[in-house]
Amino acid sequence: MKALFLVGGRGTRLRPLTNKIPKPMIPIMGKPLLERNILNLKNVGIEEVVLSTCYGAQYIQRYFGDGERFGMKIHHVKEDRPLGTGGAIKNAEKYFDDTFLIFNADIISDIDLKELIKYHREKAADVTIAVTQVDNPSMYGVIEYDENNYAISFKEKPQPHEITSNFINAGVYIFEPKVLKEIPAGCVVSVEREVFPQLIEKGYKIAVYKGCSYWIDIGTPEKYLQAHMDIMAGKYRISGLSFSGKGIYKGPGSDIHSSVKIYEPVYIGANVKIEENASIGSNVIIGDNVHIGKGVKIVGSIIWDGVVVENGARLVNTIVASNCRIRHGGDYYSTVYVEEDSRPMAI
Ligand code: GTP
Repeated sequence: MKALFLVGGRGTRLRPLTNKIPKPMIPIMGKPLLERNILNLKNVGIEEVVLSTCYGAQYIQRYFGDGERFGMKIHHVKEDRPLGTGGAIKNAEKYFDDTFLIFNADIISDIDLKELIKYHREKAADVTIAVTQVDNPSMYGVIEYDENNYAISFKEKPQPHEITSNFINAGVYIFEPKVLKEIPAGCVVSVEREVFPQLIEKGYKIAVYKGCSYWIDIGTPEKYLQAHMDIMAGKYRISGLSFSGKGIYKGPGSDIHSSVKIYEPVYIGANVKIEENASIGSNVIIGDNVHIGKGVKIVGSIIWDGVVVENGARLVNTIVASNCRIRHGGDYYSTVYVEEDSRPMAI
């Protein structure tokens, strides 16, 4: 089976973090989310992937190439203008002549893909949509379904009085290739708002799969931070890392002064230098090649690669993008910091 990742969105809600890098390339515990999600597919025997790109296409193409470095076969299908989620699926049609998986590229979930595929076959569905339960579905696409778990209606971002289900579209689908003929070519189409409702109208069977226990989309800075806090709390397991509200991971080549106080859980990447009397944690993620000065205090924050934090700075609940320099004594609370000259954005 092959898989398609929709990776071409602008990621506007995650700005300014997506000003320079596309959302699927945002690091999750030091590694791009898309890389983590692609590598997870190997566990279910999927080794051929299509990336549907638009915004930031070159960045993604350069990083993944033909996939050889990852032991996968990776194809890139680039749109000259954004075609929307449905248009992007149609645009990759030539790669799919058999049942295939589709993923939004901004989600982290523990969905069991083997079970999902089995379920799709048992339900003899034309499309299967994974759904997840949330307390407040008003920001999402809500799905209503019948007693046999086939979808009957879709409501995007419903008003409070319209909410009749709290199962939302989790952005993971299985498609039979025959449904692609129902999507018009070369135009902007939304799979959530247009394709799914039209498929139901035409009598196609859309099964709803509820086997997702952990799910988050990292579409906003709050959710991006939350995803890391959940990983640190042990709610979601990243292969090779084990956190359970405690745990310290130190990458190779790190140089941490003996006076530094570390409060678990903390993730420290490779080649990180931390100087005297700094205090790190809890819930801190530090990327590779980071330099942290004397007396720095960092709590509940994510520091990307190549960052320098000068002496005495304080970072709380803050995200610092790659290669930034936090000046001596800088004090940031609930902030996204992407470059020195731009005004830090409040989370
Ligand atoms: P926001 O601008 O913050 O809403 O983010 P987004 O542009 O990524 O949109 P959204 O989160 O709704 O997208 C869901 C998934 O579809 C993401 O993985 C996007 O990268 C992808 N996507 C959205 N629009 C397009 C598109 O026009 N083309 C392609 N190829 N992918 C898209």
